[in-house]
Amino acid sequence: MAKPRVVVTRRWPMPVEARLAERFDTTLNTDDHRMGTAELQDALRAADALLPTVTDRISAEVLGAGPRRARIIGSFGVGFNHIDLDAAKAAGLTVTNTPEVLTECTADIAMTLLLMIARRAGEGERLVRAKAWHGWGPTHMMGAKVTGKTLGLIGLGRIGRALAKRAHFDFDMSILFYDPLPPARAEIDALGAERCGTIDELLARADFVSLHCPASKETHHLMNAERLALMKPGAYLINSSRGDVVDEAALAEALAGGVIAGAALDVFEAEPEVTEALLALDNVVMFPHLGSASLETRVAMGMRVIDNLTAFFAGETPPDKVV
Ligand code: DGY
Repeated sequence: MAKPRVVVTRRWPMPVEARLAERFDTTLNTDDHRMGTAELQDALRAADALLPTVTDRISAEVLGAGPRRARIIGSFGVGFNHIDLDAAKAAGLTVTNTPEVLTECTADIAMTLLLMIARRAGEGERLVRAKAWHGWGPTHMMGAKVTGKTLGLIGLGRIGRALAKRAHFDFDMSILFYDPLPPARAEIDALGAERCGTIDELLARADFVSLHCPASKETHHLMNAERLALMKPGAYLINSSRGDVVDEAALAEALAGGVIAGAALDVFEAEPEVTEALLALDNVVMFPHLGSASLETRVAMGMRVIDNLTAFFAGETPPDKVV
């Protein structure tokens, strides 16, 4: 029997591309260019499976391409806000993602962001590299202590819980959270976490606020000017979820005006564009969407896509079916 045809939209780690080539009739994107609408539509016409990443816009227009051969979209990543799920469902397409395997590394990045902004690590690094450091001083580059502070998590899913574990057990932090769909009581108790009834309550109490909610119509600009103003003046905002959960223009104003002490961002509203207003600020740490970017995790994500495809083409329900 002919192997299913799959189109991979970006370069994936070598062991994953090799495994894909063994199992499927695989078209790789060897120069890693970003595919536009027409190229994605061609892929859906030519292949049984399209394997996109979070950088591909799988819009209703892309999915409307006919005559379509593809029956499954095996996305490389846990978030799926880049895919129009309603359109995919209406078209009878199966969509899968890659949860769990990136939980620990994304929590590590959130903790790194938190530590870096609190201890002014980005600023310090820039100072040393600019050869502008003139030596140790009792009042030089003082940041905020992390140990023992209060961390407020908006979203207590897998990544939020993994960050809470690090913060609570390694840094002795008190954990607050807001989540309309909280985890089981035992999981909350194991982290010593306290549930807040509203986001506003959490914002008023936390020294660090970390965002762990998916991007959706409901969470778009969840952190806007009004909410930023509810945070403590000495508090920090950490975002490793999705850029559009934060109103970046409002954040830049809040940071410039001292409404909050700082922000640390792994994700942006218009990636890879970063606004001049944010770039001009010193009290913000910025990473190029590194959450899952360890070799081990990226390989595991790719293998998870392969598991989903293998199940689907064997006539089974893929383990990570989203729709
Ligand atoms: C995801 O998987 O959604 C991440 O943002 C990619 O690192």
